[in-house]
Amino acid sequence: MTNVDILVTAPLPPFLYDPLKADYRCHDYYQSSHRPGLLAAEGTRIRGLVQGGGTLTPTSLLDELPKLEIISVFGVGYDGVPVDYCRNRDIKVTNTPDVLTDDVADVAVGLVLMTGRGFGAAERYVRAGEWGKRPFPLTTKLGGRTAGILGLGRIGKAIARRLAAMEMKIAYTGRKPQPDVPYRFVPTLTGLAAESDFLIVACPGGPATKNIVNAGVLEALGKKGTLLNIARGSIVDEPALVDALSKGTIKGAGLDVFVDEPNVPAPLLSMDNVVLLPHVGSATQQTRKAMGDLCKANLDAWFAERKTLTLIPELAD
Ligand code: 8YV
Repeated sequence: MTNVDILVTAPLPPFLYDPLKADYRCHDYYQSSHRPGLLAAEGTRIRGLVQGGGTLTPTSLLDELPKLEIISVFGVGYDGVPVDYCRNRDIKVTNTPDVLTDDVADVAVGLVLMTGRGFGAAERYVRAGEWGKRPFPLTTKLGGRTAGILGLGRIGKAIARRLAAMEMKIAYTGRKPQPDVPYRFVPTLTGLAAESDFLIVACPGGPATKNIVNAGVLEALGKKGTLLNIARGSIVDEPALVDALSKGTIKGAGLDVFVDEPNVPAPLLSMDNVVLLPHVGSATQQTRKAMGDLCKANLDAWFAERKTLTLIPELAD
């Protein structure tokens, strides 16, 4: 074990936590029943912090950790990390890109199939003993439909590749058109929504994207359109989404993420045209292990060699 003290602010799986405990003095802030006491006793010794992708890290907590050198995020999203604050204090921030791309893209495809072909409702129909009593309604062919992707990053591109293989048309929006992609750029989110059968949210969360999928975007998506979100709940104005679904403004929704997880807005639970998943984008054994290995490898590289493997782009020189 090194003499480096690490604060753990999220629940971690044993395949990450056990090796961390073997190599570092870990202080479990997440499970602590007396967090102020823990910070008072250990705060000035803490040099590393491990958190989850969705974990909110307030600057008030970081103020209690004057010797903090690195935050290693067990996840690709670091919208819970105050990046400007970290830059000012020269705290490194690392995440786990790439290793989870395929799994998250698979979940988007799953949501396209479940919502578009009605597989969620079809499965409930069989389990309820309805088969043979009434026909299951016909759905709409996916080939030829348009998937509009908000955020054509690593995950957005992996989604596009998969849906293109299903003969769907792909369009996207983002900060700027990307060279070398065979997909059509639409400059505005409302414009993309207007021509999408499936509007797929795949951009980072955080202040810049908070509530950008608003009532106007949902209006543009319209009755032909289904909203899918595999990114962050904060990107979608959730009350506006509930309203659009209740009023039939849009066709349906497939959601893996929510504003206040694990709390799902109650009206969604009883809607047959909505598919709800418990934030399982990266939740396979192989991928979570790879994320855990990378999360620890960033700490190891930092404390052994003052290097990082996957520093977030905002902090790269
Ligand atoms: C994980 C995620 O659920 O990578 C992310 O940003 O949201 C998910 O993959 C989370 O990071 C686990 O802590």
